[in-house]
Amino acid sequence: MLLPLPQEPNSCLCFYGAFVIGALLILTFQMLKMLKYHNYESASDIPPGNRGLPLIGETIQFMAAIKSSKGFYDFVPIRRLRYGNCFKTSIFGKTHVFVSSIESAKSILNNESGKFTKRYIKSIAELVGDQSILCASHQHHKLIRGRLINMFSTQSMSLFIKHFDGLILKTLNAWECESTVIVMDEALKITFKAMCKMLMSLEDEQEIGMLQKHVSQVCEAMLAFPLKFPWTRFYKGIQARKIIMSKLEMMISERRKGIESSQEDFLQQLLKEDVKTCSLNEPPRQTDTEIQDNILTMIIAAGQDTTASAITWMVKYLGENQKVLDALRAEQLNIAKTLKKSFLTLEDLNEMSYASQVVKESLRMASVVPWFPRVVLEDCEIEGYKIKRGWNVNIDARSIHLDPTVYKDPNNFNPSRFNDESKPNSFLAFGMGGRTCLGMNMAKSMMLVFLHRLVTTYKWKVTNLDSSIEKWALFSKLKSGCPIYVTHIMDDEKPT
Ligand code: HEM
Repeated sequence: MLLPLPQEPNSCLCFYGAFVIGALLILTFQMLKMLKYHNYESASDIPPGNRGLPLIGETIQFMAAIKSSKGFYDFVPIRRLRYGNCFKTSIFGKTHVFVSSIESAKSILNNESGKFTKRYIKSIAELVGDQSILCASHQHHKLIRGRLINMFSTQSMSLFIKHFDGLILKTLNAWECESTVIVMDEALKITFKAMCKMLMSLEDEQEIGMLQKHVSQVCEAMLAFPLKFPWTRFYKGIQARKIIMSKLEMMISERRKGIESSQEDFLQQLLKEDVKTCSLNEPPRQTDTEIQDNILTMIIAAGQDTTASAITWMVKYLGENQKVLDALRAEQLNIAKTLKKSFLTLEDLNEMSYASQVVKESLRMASVVPWFPRVVLEDCEIEGYKIKRGWNVNIDARSIHLDPTVYKDPNNFNPSRFNDESKPNSFLAFGMGGRTCLGMNMAKSMMLVFLHRLVTTYKWKVTNLDSSIEKWALFSKLKSGCPIYVTHIMDDEKPT
């Protein structure tokens, strides 16, 4: 049997001495390298900003913002005030540049130079899946987007609006008059239900509740440190993803067995696409994993917080701006009188011009998705500063939406501002260019249907004016959820 050789005391000292000297040399070398880097970065052609501590950067400050009542976005305006329209920082070991001018937003988002791409950090790709439209490579993204965009045809939009209207009517009828409801909770329930129905015809309340719980865990994990220990948010998110994936896998396999299923939903349309390509002796264009990843992505992008948050902010702004609410109600009561069917149609929504402005103004002020991340593929110049390949550039849409040189009195809720021509490319609630929100029209429709039914049925008072933002939320989400005290509109209050 071989035993470890006993060490002589002197050779032991020599060994440790050499080890300490070696470690000191490496440390000194690293420090010199960092100093050189910092000096290089302080050059005036690099965006101003603080890269924070070596390796950690400003991650701690960023995480503190995520956990604070001002919300994760709070990290940005403080630095923008200090450094201007273009500044850099370092988060999770990566350099991030924030940009808030219309011109730069346009050129980066339209990406005619091909120098930018959208790539989420590895941990997010692990949660939504690397075949998701959010994480796919440039070429693959185009393919997936092409397939998904087909799902938003006028026909499916019309069906969706009818179904969504039914859900809203049911929900509003269940509200007790002279009681308090939490708008965010109600909006979340309705939008999630509507998405489950549209994407995969899921209607069972219990199943929807479970799915919603798991999707929330995935969303929470997106902002967490990617540490996989059983007690971490990230681990719980990964576990939740696995459960959702196996549920979707089961659904797909059942549908494949009877491909002529009568369901007319997104999932079915995606499966039909596959059959079409197979019959042309082509390899299937999409794998089951791709379908699963993208159904999950759509649930997160649509059914989770975005639309529900936008609805919540809109109700809050209206509750605080009586004149706007009066004008809106007058328009909607007139439309209510001329409705030809018992449910709202796409044509009815097209008549809602003031309501559309209310929706747009709410989206501007709330900036539910406050910034859009891109990765730099080639060294380039932004706002006169040199930007290096591999850096992350974030378009700070919220700053643009609240810039007084772009929107007059930006903190005033004034839907009529959109009567006048606004500056081109200044409205970024749904992004711009090849990655513009796929569900933009669907989101606007949901907001209009909700508005119509709410203002023609109820009067309300916002009972908690607190504007704090939810901690750990991926989007700007009102912490109070916007509690409102509702009372029915009396017939004699309606204009004749
Ligand atoms: C008020 C609600 C919504 C807001 C504010 C919103 C906002 C956005 C924004 C800003 C982007 C682009 C981000 C970027 O360029 O980096 C985006 C992308 C996306 N949105 Fe939405 N969204 C909303 C609702 C929806 C709905 C209802 C759906 C689906 C039915 C949806 C599906 C998507 C998808 C799939 C993408 C990725 C598009 C791509 O990368 O090509 N969104 N959304």
